Amino acid sequence: MKICVIPGDGIGPEIIAQALRVMDILKQDGLKFETEHALLGGCAVDATGVPYPEATQKIARAADAVLFGAIGGPKWDNLPRNQRPERGLLGIRKDLNLFANLRPAMLYPELANASTLKPEVVSGLDIMIVRELTGDIYFGEPRGITVEDGKRVGRNTMIYNEDEIRRIGHVAFQAARKRNKKVCSIDKMNVLETTQLWRDIMIEISAEYPDVELSHMLVDNAAMQLVRNPKQFDVMVTGNIFGDILSDEASMLTGSIGMLPSASLDENNKGLYEPIHGSAPDIAGKNLANPLATILSAAMMLRYTFNKEAEATRIENAVKKVLADGYRTGDIYEEGTKKVSCSEMGDAVVAAM
Ligand code: NAD
Ligand code: IPM
Ligand code: MN
Repeated sequence: MKICVIPGDGIGPEIIAQALRVMDILKQDGLKFETEHALLGGCAVDATGVPYPEATQKIARAADAVLFGAIGGPKWDNLPRNQRPERGLLGIRKDLNLFANLRPAMLYPELANASTLKPEVVSGLDIMIVRELTGDIYFGEPRGITVEDGKRVGRNTMIYNEDEIRRIGHVAFQAARKRNKKVCSIDKMNVLETTQLWRDIMIEISAEYPDVELSHMLVDNAAMQLVRNPKQFDVMVTGNIFGDILSDEASMLTGSIGMLPSASLDENNKGLYEPIHGSAPDIAGKNLANPLATILSAAMMLRYTFNKEAEATRIENAVKKVLADGYRTGDIYEEGTKKVSCSEMGDAVVAAM
C-alpha cells in the first residue's frame, strides 16, 4: 500500500498532520503501508514554479492512493491562471483520471444542534453526492479571456460526452444499490443542452438497474430542496460544477464544512482522498481547523482503495466517540461542549482509537 501524502497550503498541513497520526496508530497495530510526501498547489509554485510539478506527478502515479489536504490562498490569487494552485488540483484529478467524486453528507447525531438548520430537518441525514470530476465547464474548450471587437470576452465551455455521463451514472446507481436504492439526478435540462444529454443518458442506463428508483430535479430546485427537506435524498448524481456547489451547501446540513470527507476515484478504485473544504486562509496557521473531514477521508481511503473495512470503521467509530465525548473545534462548538484546537482534536481521535 503506497500512499502519496500532499498537505498543500493554508490549513492543509495542519489537518493532514492529524490524519497521519491516526494512520500511524493503524501502522503500530500492524497495518502495512508506505507514505511519500509531495508538493501541490501554492507551495509547489513557490518551490518549483508550477502547481503540479513533475516530481509530484511521478509519486502520485506510482502510489495506490493520494491523501490530500487543501490548496490555494490569497498569496497566489494574482498569478497567471496556469500557475494558480487550483490548477494543480485540477491537474492531478485529470492526470489520474479521477472522474468519480463521492461526497457523503452524513449527520452525526451529536451535531444535530451544530447545523444552522432545525435538528428535526437534519437528524438522520445520510446523503451521498456523486459528482463528476474531470469534465463539464471545468475542463471544456474553448476557454479564456480574449479581445473581440475591442471588448474583453470571457469564455468557458460546458461540455459532456455520453461516455463521461454513462460512467458516472453507473457509479451512482451502484452506490444506490448498497444504500436506499434511490438516485436523484440533478441537471438544468430546461436551459442547457449538455444537461439534456445528461438526463437522457441517466434514463438509458437506469434500465440496467430496475431495483433502483431514478428521479430528476433541476439544480435550482435541488439547492432549495436540500435546505427544505434534505432527507428526501439518498444518492444525488450531478456534473462537476453543480456538484461543487451543492456539496458545500450539503456540508452545512452536517454542522460544518469541516466534517465532509471525499473520495475521488478512477475506474480501478485508485483514489485521491480529501476534505471537501479549501485551505481556509482565515484560520490557517492558528491550529483552529477541524481535522475530522480529513481524518474521515483517510477512512474512505482505507475502505475504497485498500478494502480495509475494519480499519475504516475503526477510524469512523473513533470520530463518533470524540463527538459523543463532547470534543468540538470552533466550527462545531456549542455551549456545554469542550472547545479544542485542531491538534487537540487529533489527540482525542488518537486516544479514542
Ligand atoms: P474554504 O473552504 O477554504 O473556507 C470557507 C470557510 O469555511 C472559511 O470561513 C473557513 O475558515 C471555513 N473552513 C473551511 N474548512 C474548515 C475546517 N476544516 N475547519 C473549520 N473551518 C473551516 O473556501 P474559500 O475560503 O472559498 O477558499 C479558500 C481557498 O481554498 C481558495 O484559494 C480556494 O480556491 C481554495 N479551495 C481549495 C479546495 C481544495 O483544496 N480542495 C477546495 C475549496 C477551495
Ligand atoms: C473542491 C474545490 C475545487 C473544485 C477547486 C479548488 C478547484 O472547490 O474540491 O470542491 O472546484 O473542484
Ligand atoms: Mn468546492
